[in-house]
Amino acid sequence: MTRIVSRATEFERSGIRVMFELAEEQGGDLVRLEVGEPDFDTPKPVIDAAERAARNGETHYTSGAGIPKLRTAIAERMADETGVSFDPERHVSVTNGAMEALSLALSAIAEPGDDVLIPTPAWPNYRNQARLAGATPVPIPLPPDEGFDLDPKRIIDRLSPDTAAVILTTPSNPTGQVYDEDAVKAVVEAAREHGTFVIADEVYARLTYGDDHRRVTSYVDYPEGLLTVDSCSKTYAMTGWRLGWLVGPEDVIEAATSLGESTTACPSSIAQHAALAALTGTQDPVREMRTAFRDRRDYLVNRVEGIPHISCPRPEGAFYAFLDVSELDGESADVAARLLSEYGVVTAPGSAFGDAGEGYLRLSFANSMERIELGLDRLARMVEDERN
Ligand SMILES: Cc1ncc(COP(=O)(O)O)c(C=O)c1O
Repeated sequence: MTRIVSRATEFERSGIRVMFELAEEQGGDLVRLEVGEPDFDTPKPVIDAAERAARNGETHYTSGAGIPKLRTAIAERMADETGVSFDPERHVSVTNGAMEALSLALSAIAEPGDDVLIPTPAWPNYRNQARLAGATPVPIPLPPDEGFDLDPKRIIDRLSPDTAAVILTTPSNPTGQVYDEDAVKAVVEAAREHGTFVIADEVYARLTYGDDHRRVTSYVDYPEGLLTVDSCSKTYAMTGWRLGWLVGPEDVIEAATSLGESTTACPSSIAQHAALAALTGTQDPVREMRTAFRDRRDYLVNRVEGIPHISCPRPEGAFYAFLDVSELDGESADVAARLLSEYGVVTAPGSAFGDAGEGYLRLSFANSMERIELGLDRLARMVEDERN
């Protein structure tokens, strides 16, 4: 006899995963632009540090909140980048990736049935993470005709005493947009009045292409109302190491850490030593990856500008372009399916990021310039075939 709880069966399958599996089934010479991870290897000094840690016996359980040196490195980096000081012992908890940081934060602050406001299009996992915490994910569609700008009013209007959190992802996955600072400030201020936390998911904060990107903590008037989530995954090409962190007020950190201790005990000791090396060692690999991503972004956006019937704004961060394909036939899932089956290009349909993403395709530029070029040649051919 099986007995599966409704909470588990309500989990939606990710539309990105669906495309991934279709691509695996189809095989052949596919251009993979659906992936959400850097195509670079983890920097060598990080791998060396992990090897040393393993050989030196750093192979045991650690404190649930992480090894003190890593928590200190995280607090110091936050202080450097934001001008706000954090106590490593009270304000930092190391987690198994940003995913666990998000999950633990939501579990620590949401009562059953509370709302979690998610401006969309948004990374699909937030919905299931809110559900896992017993909360209700509430999508707040952002207007496509305004480039999916963060419209604070839309969020503020939905705040209530039952709102546990607002999740702001800047730079955004899937749009690559960096939210306007005044808009973010307005949301944080309103959330403060309602006693609601703002979760700032900043996993792409160091992959921005202008000079002036600032972390949310650095410019809001009430940093105490923020829970900042970040990880090594995207910044250091370390998705498989599963190492992230949560930074926030002491009571939330304490509760989140104790929830984490009951589920995973602690993040991998070896990955923690790798993260310490990543954060405290040379940042040249980050700069190199960022330069490569920026070149690819520029190439992609310029190519798309030359293809009639489709368009995309220039992403300011992360490694995704969100293409308006609404002039092509069918829903975004159909467009993505045709692009895969007939032209061999794998993308993520906009609908995977919520209803607000319908009519769009997300293309990742975490792939080599040659593959991106080939993918765009094929996309241009599809548009030509279908629109002529
Ligand atoms: C916006 C966003 N947040 C969090 C994550 C998860 O990051 P991690 O690998 O650190 O769990 C991702 C991964 O795609 C993401 O795009």
